[in-house]
Amino acid sequence: MSRSTARAHANIALVKYWGKRDIALNLPGAGSLSMTLQGLDTTTTVEWGATPTDELHVGGEDAGPGPLAKALPVLDAIRARAGMTEAARVESANSFPTGAGLASSASGLAALTVAAAQAAGLDLAPSELSAIARIGSGSASRSIFGGYVEWLAGVEPDGSDSYAVPVFDAAHWDLRVVVAVVDAGKKAVGSTRGMEHTRQTSPYHRAYLAEVDTDLREAKAAIAARDLAALGRVAERSCLRMHADMMAADPALIYLKPASWEVIGVVRALQERGVAAFFTADAGPNIKVFCLPEAVAAVRAALLDCRVVRRLIGAAPGGPAVIVD
Ligand code: PMV
Repeated sequence: MSRSTARAHANIALVKYWGKRDIALNLPGAGSLSMTLQGLDTTTTVEWGATPTDELHVGGEDAGPGPLAKALPVLDAIRARAGMTEAARVESANSFPTGAGLASSASGLAALTVAAAQAAGLDLAPSELSAIARIGSGSASRSIFGGYVEWLAGVEPDGSDSYAVPVFDAAHWDLRVVVAVVDAGKKAVGSTRGMEHTRQTSPYHRAYLAEVDTDLREAKAAIAARDLAALGRVAERSCLRMHADMMAADPALIYLKPASWEVIGVVRALQERGVAAFFTADAGPNIKVFCLPEAVAAVRAALLDCRVVRRLIGAAPGGPAVIVD
């Protein structure tokens, strides 16, 4: 078969990945942990040999050089594994509104990896697919798996031990995520550049990396015990330490906007009212709030009341990346 379609979900990091030990291979300075998000999905079709050069279309339009440059290392890795030279035609679509300021690289590169491997006739283990997705985008390594997922930092220079592993499946714990979109713009500084700038200039970066193993241990214990307060504490701290690390770079890297802080204030106010809801944010201004299903209505109402919130997007624990055609 030379044509396949796969679907993968985005993920939200509860223990953040920020900083690389190898840029070309996307090897992280520390591990990370995420929840896979049903509701933020990418469906991707790969066809080998249909075009003279690699082509990437997203939502029916030519994606341009930036996204193609991220897809190329994945396509090259698949070509090398399969011993083939054909070009790939890639057609990708996101279920979530594009231009909502939500990263699509994790779901996009995970779906691309699974579809490209299948269409090339490769039968790879999920950990191998994860390592290939990783070289497209680090966080994509986690979107190969469903539920709660850890990406192992690894120690090998060739990256052979840096891939994601499933920790608990989606059915283990029904956490909900409400994304509060406050700014739909494209980020000014991409994550690779931002990470490298932070690594080179932030005096906090060593301290940030040194805490990650503790965060991973505590987050996994909290998920095992389904202890939301404990998970919320670790996730908020991991998020704020990542942002503190970036803000300590020279010049400072600031992704959070006044609107982001306003939403964080809303979440804190919910907590003071006894609603167990916690926040996290990635390399952008939008805030992701997580809580139990019974708290979703209160969380949505509080966020909709906040004048800086433009739209809400809901997500639940999602399954692994799969072939759909
Ligand atoms: O994999 P990238 O290059 O999209 O980097 C993701 C970085 C964060 O979203 C900020 C953190 C994370 O662990 O997902």
